[in-house]
Amino acid sequence: MVSVTRIPVLAGNWKMFKTLPETVAYLQEFKILVQYAEGCEIVIAAPFPALAAAADTVRGSRIRIAAQSLHWETEGAFTGEVSAAMLASAGCSDVIIGHSERRQLFGETDETVNRRLLAALAAGLRPIVCVGETLDQREANETKDVLLSQIDGAFASLTSDSASPIIVAYEPVWAIGTGRTATPEIAEEAHRILRGRIREILGAVTADNVRILYGGSVKPANIQSLMSKPEIDGALVGGASLDPVSMAAIIHYQS
Ligand code: 13P
Repeated sequence: MVSVTRIPVLAGNWKMFKTLPETVAYLQEFKILVQYAEGCEIVIAAPFPALAAAADTVRGSRIRIAAQSLHWETEGAFTGEVSAAMLASAGCSDVIIGHSERRQLFGETDETVNRRLLAALAAGLRPIVCVGETLDQREANETKDVLLSQIDGAFASLTSDSASPIIVAYEPVWAIGTGRTATPEIAEEAHRILRGRIREILGAVTADNVRILYGGSVKPANIQSLMSKPEIDGALVGGASLDPVSMAAIIHYQS
């Protein structure tokens, strides 16, 4: 068996928080706090209006800037939408796709997740694809089926070549913003299911290399136990990413 080293990814998802000046002030402080952090990738997903300034502020550092969604068309009469090329030209390298808030509040489906994923890849953006079950689904023992169908839907028509940059985030809906973190064991089990399916669809090399992040009430106090599981390759952090000191503490989880 070949052992694989997956570089951890620690990503903050700010959701609909922070104006442009707040973004710049945060990143000026944050880039100093994490300047010596090694052995991991750092991503901050800021709101659309702050992306270009965010990218400017972190230029020359290792911090990557992500958007929180995109539209699948390249351009056109789609009022309120933003294309992959627009994000790339603003300095984004990554984009979150299919967050449960988009699925629950804005009608995102596995099919639209797939379309956005293909558009991101075509423009050279690295997708962070979110999946995860609701509390009802977990209590009805449907977690495995839900995760498998979300992966099948998101990855439809992908090839292993095109899939290589993709990051997956397992975010159980019941753990988001609730303070109720999944135990490392629950997260690990879900990650195993996801990686197993990716292996079936895209082969062992892609499955072994894809980073699967955990998201849902990640904090400085619980990151270490989550990261102790070999299946957990990083975290997608909501609330605790809004404060630069707390996000930096998550990034320095090993020290
Ligand atoms: P919280 O960390 O606030 O639970 O949010 C998780 C999340 O949704 C990240 O995308």
